[in-house]
Amino acid sequence: MDAEHILEVEGLTFSYGEVATLRGVDFSVPKGKVVSLMGRNGVGKTTLLKTLMGLNVPSGGRILFEGKEMTQLPTHKRVKGGLGYVPQGRQIFPRLTVEDNLKIGLGARGETLRKVPQDIYDFFPVLFEMRARAGGNLSGGQQQQLAIGRALATDPQLLLLDEPTEGIQPNIIQLIGDILQQLAKEKGMTILIVEQYLDFVREISSSFYIMNRGAISARGPIHDLTQDLVHQYLSV
Ligand SMILES: Nc1ncnc2c1ncn2[C@@H]1O[C@H](COP(=O)(O)OP(=O)(O)O)[C@@H](O)[C@H]1O
Ligand SMILES: [Mg+2]
Repeated sequence: MDAEHILEVEGLTFSYGEVATLRGVDFSVPKGKVVSLMGRNGVGKTTLLKTLMGLNVPSGGRILFEGKEMTQLPTHKRVKGGLGYVPQGRQIFPRLTVEDNLKIGLGARGETLRKVPQDIYDFFPVLFEMRARAGGNLSGGQQQQLAIGRALATDPQLLLLDEPTEGIQPNIIQLIGDILQQLAKEKGMTILIVEQYLDFVREISSSFYIMNRGAISARGPIHDLTQDLVHQYLSV
């Protein structure tokens, strides 16, 4: 156990049927940092985040959160314990209002807070303006902000985000990057972000991991993310 690391993952394995998708994933995330997890399509990034959230049951290995084993915990207990999740493709509830989408996050907190905390609307003023609109009527960038807001409503200590810049216009990407950095700096939140957009990764993260075929194949401080690594593991 390492007190400086909020998340430690050891030898994590998972298969969809016969197909081994996570083949012994080892990595850790230091408290209060923004860490990026990169890799080409299909290497297992989303599968890894789902397994961290308890949405996939691993066949082996361990997940430690704040030094405590949570490999077998159900998802709702992980959320209560401080894990927040922004899934790939956002997965907001299109027929619910923006406000009700955010309240789903509050419900997961396990408290009976009835009001969306003002700081979420302060981070994303557009969500306040649109609070009575159906989630499905928002633009892609607005839905991404809603998905992040919903995760923040669970009051996470560690926020996992799966490709939040996918299909989002540059000014919203900038906004999301600024907010993630602010959450780390001002609230001490730890952020693990699956991302393919290199410039964004270089701008916001302090270290990186690269996944390839279900395992971590490179890691380091962000300035060690060389063109060679990009060429070997990331370019298409
Ligand atoms: N529900 C599923 N059932 C079967 N295979 C899946 C499922 N989800 C993903 N896969 C496969 O697992 C591999 C890893 O997928 P994924 O974790 O989504 O990769 P990434 O997020 O890195 O693009 C891919 O080969 C994908 O086709
Ligand atoms: Mg994915």
